[in-house]
Amino acid sequence: MALDDLMTRELERFRDEHPRSLALTEQAKRSLLGGVPMHWMVRWPGGFPVFAADAEGARFRDVDGHEYIDFCLGDTGAMTGHAPAPAIRALAAQAPKGITLMLPSEDGLWVGEEMARRFGLPYWQFALTATDANRFALRIARAITGRPKVLVFNWCYHGTVDETFATLQPDGTVRAREGSVGPPVQPSETTRVVEFNDPEALERELAHGDVACVLAEPALTNIGIVLPEPGYHDALREATRRAGTLVIIDETHTICAGPGGYTAAHGLEPDMLTIGKPLAAGVPAAAYGFSEDVARRANDAISTDLADIGGIGGTLAANVLSLAAMRATLAEVLTDTAFARMIELGERFEAGVRWVIEAHGLDWHVSRLGCRVEYLFHAEPARTGAQAAAAGDPALDRFIHLYALNRGILLTPFHNMALMSPATDEADVDRHTEMLDVAARELTAAA
Ligand SMILES: Cc1ncc(COP(=O)(O)O)c(C=O)c1O
Repeated sequence: MALDDLMTRELERFRDEHPRSLALTEQAKRSLLGGVPMHWMVRWPGGFPVFAADAEGARFRDVDGHEYIDFCLGDTGAMTGHAPAPAIRALAAQAPKGITLMLPSEDGLWVGEEMARRFGLPYWQFALTATDANRFALRIARAITGRPKVLVFNWCYHGTVDETFATLQPDGTVRAREGSVGPPVQPSETTRVVEFNDPEALERELAHGDVACVLAEPALTNIGIVLPEPGYHDALREATRRAGTLVIIDETHTICAGPGGYTAAHGLEPDMLTIGKPLAAGVPAAAYGFSEDVARRANDAISTDLADIGGIGGTLAANVLSLAAMRATLAEVLTDTAFARMIELGERFEAGVRWVIEAHGLDWHVSRLGCRVEYLFHAEPARTGAQAAAAGDPALDRFIHLYALNRGILLTPFHNMALMSPATDEADVDRHTEMLDVAARELTAAA
């Protein structure tokens, strides 16, 4: 059977087995734009999304009664596993005592000290999303350097941050990323873009002297996993120091590398660090940290009298409920022991995919960063975002996703990405390997 025919068969199976999700989608079209509460959800393969019923640990159930092993984990928001007991206890204990006050609580102090211990930056602030943490960090960087521009890597993703929706054209110019909805200004006005792993391009763009900060994932994780080449982070740090440009490391996904993210695992020395998603086990919470020097300069630059209208903060940021959940998550869920296990499972997942690739002679490869694993449909790992983007195969991507979903496995949408949680086990990983083996057999027979 050709790929198109295999896909038709899988679409029919999905539709037949999910009547309740289909009915709810039809109903939702009358009140929700596109029939979904958040527009990305239209992109799940199958023609309509499964409606979730409940989730616990590494599994969730849908409204049609199917159970799934969840390797998507809310695209990292639930990297803790769903509803981990310590966070649930903390939420249940805190909620009756108040949810938001715009006053500090002792939990915030505990979390600040723990973040400093894990990531090595002494001062912290909280936000509700990683997007906001990035937006606030960019503002601070511009304020304290007096420079207008931000530098990002081609095909990066840092949330819905206007400055980052910029891609590099083949002629070297910067354009709004394809699909960017209503950009406020042309991103070439705000942003310089270079390829990841290209120190010469970085030097060249920094030499303009107008770049406040580099906002970087330490390894790209949103266009496949693109790992830094040896020495790249040293080159980045040296070049930015010479240019008077700050480095903001976004650890929102790369926390998968260990308890202190890629930064602690590889001894990076960022000026600022941002992180969101799993910090409070999925309750909205994010944080951004400052070096001693940046903290001093930020204090000088930010007017206390005008702090409430400075463009940084948010009424619900640092609310006592998310701080309580953050404390419990850091203290009892995303622990050193949990990471050691999750990374071992990541290695097992990687080995399983590699075995399938070799057994079927596929032109694919598998990449891993800590407990995050991804397989891509090209033989060589990409060095840059552009290479990774060019090697994408959306049709095969959708097929694998739907094939997995029809067999009780959820992968991260828009990638073949899998994340291990403290609740994931070896049998879950092996079930994925078995599924991929059968899928590969059907695909190679079709080719
Ligand atoms: C590296 C990175 N930073 C920031 C974000 C934004 O997170 P959120 O959508 O929760 O604000 C994302 C989301 O995928 C991300 O991958």
